[in-house]
Amino acid sequence: MSTNGHSPFEGPVQTAGDAARVGEEYKTAVSKIITSHTINELYGAQVFDEPAIALAPNPYEKWLTCRIAMEEYGHHVRFRRLADDLGIEAEKLDAGSGKHLSIFEYPLEVWPDFLAIKALADLAEILQIEDLLECSYIPLRDVARATMPEEKFHAGYGRSRLEELGKTPEGKVQAQTAIDRYFEVMLPFFGRRDSRNNEMFRKWGVKQRTNGFMRGDYIARVQQITEELDLAMPPVPEKYQPDLDEFRASAS
Ligand SMILES: [Fe+2]
Ligand SMILES: [Fe+2]
Repeated sequence: MSTNGHSPFEGPVQTAGDAARVGEEYKTAVSKIITSHTINELYGAQVFDEPAIALAPNPYEKWLTCRIAMEEYGHHVRFRRLADDLGIEAEKLDAGSGKHLSIFEYPLEVWPDFLAIKALADLAEILQIEDLLECSYIPLRDVARATMPEEKFHAGYGRSRLEELGKTPEGKVQAQTAIDRYFEVMLPFFGRRDSRNNEMFRKWGVKQRTNGFMRGDYIARVQQITEELDLAMPPVPEKYQPDLDEFRASAS
């Protein structure tokens, strides 16, 4: 979808060398996306998925949580390979550099937190990966294709376990508390409506949708999930309501 009035670059760009030949701005656009995924997949695995193994309530859930942690580290490894191919400096890929997502400032405290993080944060990641399935940079498209089934498993895991938890009154309160805690902190993840970077990503066909449109799509999907889990939809902050309105208008 092009909302900037001219058709985006379509590529396909097959290799890091080709990316450099397309031009400096193209390489910058691809590098920014890859850097952010490289950092956040690692940071997420370190602060959420690996610690969650200790919180998992029984051996079966520990086993599945180990699998999730393994896959998140694997996502980092995949994106890191792309970063290395492009010659992105190691310092820029350091998860401790402070350039990580705001959700990581809300550390995991109890097991239901982990379930809400998987249901909500990995859903947000699914939206990002959806966009990359059509990316003009083919190595990124390939990584997106390999990563998508795993992110779907993670989000589905969180959701099914929240549903299970919600079957008792006290579990339902825990599920609601966790959803309320993480929904709001996920919304800035999509970036600013008027983001210059997003404009550059769309111009070069690295991403397809605007930040606001994706956030609207995300909010609509969370609404559907909370309905299905018979939980209350957390309030949508007023400043993000136009994103939801724009998404709804396009879907109808
Ligand atoms: Fe991941
Ligand atoms: Fe994930």
